[in-house]
Amino acid sequence: EKIYVGVDIGGTTIKVGICNEEGVLVQTYEGPTDTDKGTEAILNNIATYARLIVTESTYDWEQVEGVGVGIAGFLDIPNGIIKHSVNLGLRNVNLPEYLEPRLGKTVRINNDANVAALGEAWAGAGKGVPNCVCYTLGTGVGGGIIINGRIIEGSSGMAGELGHIQIVPDLEAIQCGCGKMGCLETVSSATGIIRMAKDAVARGDRTSLAMVDHIMAKDVFDAAKAGDEVAIRIVSRAAYYLGKSMSVVAVILNPQRFIVGGGVAKAGEFLFEQIREVFAKLTPEVAQEGVEIVPAVLGNNAGVVGAAGLLLR
Ligand code: BGC
Ligand code: NA
Ligand code: ZN
Repeated sequence: EKIYVGVDIGGTTIKVGICNEEGVLVQTYEGPTDTDKGTEAILNNIATYARLIVTESTYDWEQVEGVGVGIAGFLDIPNGIIKHSVNLGLRNVNLPEYLEPRLGKTVRINNDANVAALGEAWAGAGKGVPNCVCYTLGTGVGGGIIINGRIIEGSSGMAGELGHIQIVPDLEAIQCGCGKMGCLETVSSATGIIRMAKDAVARGDRTSLAMVDHIMAKDVFDAAKAGDEVAIRIVSRAAYYLGKSMSVVAVILNPQRFIVGGGVAKAGEFLFEQIREVFAKLTPEVAQEGVEIVPAVLGNNAGVVGAAGLLLR
């Protein structure tokens, strides 16, 4: 039996998983990324964890077909190069060049949100749906486009960077981590939601959030659900731009399903209802027919499952 190793590199932890030929995740392992220790430490951790998970399983290293890696950031996918990962502090790193000789296996890289999308398409909320577009709402806003069951990478790997759609009007726009103004990520990520909440508190707006010590996105949703007007405005702004971006994507790609995951999506129906409402309002009738906006189902495992799936092309 062949097995596939998936690696999901996050800012604080690296998660690895073993998938069998059916795409079933049979084992996972998690260790620190050690972002603060620099490039060499991160790369070494990836190699170590990938080997470790197989050693500690009932499988042999010989059964490993290859290792797939998902990474947040701008990538040159065909050449396996991490061009810039803001969260990990990596610049111009050729991952297969480093890992292949150390592991003796084929190594494929792809964007974290792209692999999460592939995971959902393969075994989650997109199972049996050939065309779907996924959003992951966390520290950033990730995007992954699956058409006919495959990730759309674009000419260099930048396709599906939905977090960087320019969507906030110039007068209200703030700068994104990518250096440009008004990206979706600035308003619909956990980071964006927290920033809007802190700004409101700093302005002296009347809100229960002023009593919260370290505001998290969940605090903003809880306050909104409890009727806090300021929190309600922040959530509806995040939902508005998400719904609007989906409206843009719908007329370009006409997917059957939008799948939304990541920590922020845990806000549940409260958030989804608002997104659907905006989408319904802005999208031409024919382009919204049959289109569903649903939560992701694989949670934190979508990344490792999809990363393992990179070997199945
Ligand atoms: C990055 C994407 C990533 C997303 C989620 C964004 O800031 O540009 O590459 O997929 O965050 O991690
Ligand atoms: Na992406
Ligand atoms: Zn941006």
